[in-house]
Amino acid sequence: MMKLTRIFYTVGVLICSTLFQANLSKAQHNVVEIYRPQFHFSPKKGWMNDPNGMVYFNGQYHLFYQHSPNTTIWGPMHWGHAISKDLMHWEEQAIALYPDSLGTIFSGSAVVDRDNTAGFGKNALVAIFTHHNHKIEEAKTGLHQYQSLAYSLDEGKTWTKYKGNPVLPNPGIWDFRDPKVMWHEATKQWVMTLATKQSITFYGSKDLKSWNRLSEFGEGVGAHGGVWECPDLFKLSVNGITKWVLLVSINPGSPSGGSGTQYFIGQFDGQSFVADHTDTRWVDYGADDYAGITWSNTGDRKIFLGWMNNWNYANLVPTQTWRGAMTIPRELTLKPVGKAFYLSSAPVKEFAAITSKAGVLGNVKVKGKYNLAGKIAAFKGKYKLDLTTTSDADFALQFGNAKGDELIVGYDQASRSFYVDRTKSGLVNFEKSFPRRTIAPRISKNGNIALTVILDVASVEVFADGGLSVLTDTFFSNGVLDQLQIQTSGAVTFQKIQIANIQSTIRR
Ligand code: FRU
Repeated sequence: MMKLTRIFYTVGVLICSTLFQANLSKAQHNVVEIYRPQFHFSPKKGWMNDPNGMVYFNGQYHLFYQHSPNTTIWGPMHWGHAISKDLMHWEEQAIALYPDSLGTIFSGSAVVDRDNTAGFGKNALVAIFTHHNHKIEEAKTGLHQYQSLAYSLDEGKTWTKYKGNPVLPNPGIWDFRDPKVMWHEATKQWVMTLATKQSITFYGSKDLKSWNRLSEFGEGVGAHGGVWECPDLFKLSVNGITKWVLLVSINPGSPSGGSGTQYFIGQFDGQSFVADHTDTRWVDYGADDYAGITWSNTGDRKIFLGWMNNWNYANLVPTQTWRGAMTIPRELTLKPVGKAFYLSSAPVKEFAAITSKAGVLGNVKVKGKYNLAGKIAAFKGKYKLDLTTTSDADFALQFGNAKGDELIVGYDQASRSFYVDRTKSGLVNFEKSFPRRTIAPRISKNGNIALTVILDVASVEVFADGGLSVLTDTFFSNGVLDQLQIQTSGAVTFQKIQIANIQSTIRR
């Protein structure tokens, strides 16, 4: 978020949180939570933004998150905490990290310190996060963000802040935050990937406590329409070739307006990162996938989770007792396209366990409109749709309801792109950039099109061509989207259309 906006929120928070707190418990009982995601993680109450400290340990996935428990707008940051055994069913835990005299708790990561390099204990969970000091920020010295540690010796239940905090003081960079730490085996050191204004700075450490600057990346490459935030660096291999992937979130400056996440593929030797390509690429071309990073300690498997929101309107979305949700967890892989490698994302395989057996339609010929409402009637606006077609012609999936709301997912042949159009999807006027069509270029050179659409009551996630082109967009319809038709201009044959119900994972 930008500086001015943040100051504005801080003042706003003081006023609103008082009003809000008075109403919260009453509201909790009265409000029918029509926009409560049914299988995406959202906090029971209060505000949530970025996923933080994601680590897999002893059979449990830990999800920490930027959390303001007593406001539904961005406020004093804590780390909320939830755990899951299957990435689908989440149980909220006690708040893990509270603000302290060094500041509020901004984004960061967590690692398993297997060899006790930091001296907190063997297999300690160590969180590396940004302390943000609002008092210093007001003094405008630019020294208000610095990196600190906390550790847990009881599988994340309780956390102790390290007495020597901060471990990485601010060298005079206004935006100096969001450390993502990983173990770099070849150079036997911890590597911290840190967002530093509009670049990424890498730091190295043997013990997580003392850090030395390794290199900086970003000048003249990628998108620079806004501040760089929440980076991640990890290895992926395909066909015996190993590449390093650097994720960099940026706000503003994304293709769909506001915040979004770009990525670079290249080499990292333990010292510096060099990108293989000069074009700008996006993890997700939709408006609502931000600050996403991957779980640590999952071996070669890279599981990604993003905040399903956009800083343009995150504080204004029409939910009452909480604000913010996460995307479906996604597995990231590398895919060769021609001579280049691209990042691809697909829902994790664990997702299959909460989807029912799909109904299948074969060889569906559409010219004009084709009604699928009967196939989705019982699913209450939450289902998965997969389709394949060998024709390269325009088509649109129109999700609607009797109130006249319409959400469209489509393919546009002329521009070789997929899109989500939420201009008429219901409540759209709470912020001016919300009603829009988001567009993802087609990267695959394959003649056939395969599309997976995951619909929850307030979000749509589109994975095209096996996850090479992705769109995630939220919406707030006036009623469940219980109508569905396919619209084409010419004759289009869909070899397969599959529709599966998705179970709610909410435990209340
Ligand atoms: C990204 C971000 C981070 C920061 C956090 C504060 O959404 O702005 O850079 O650490 O949110 O809540």
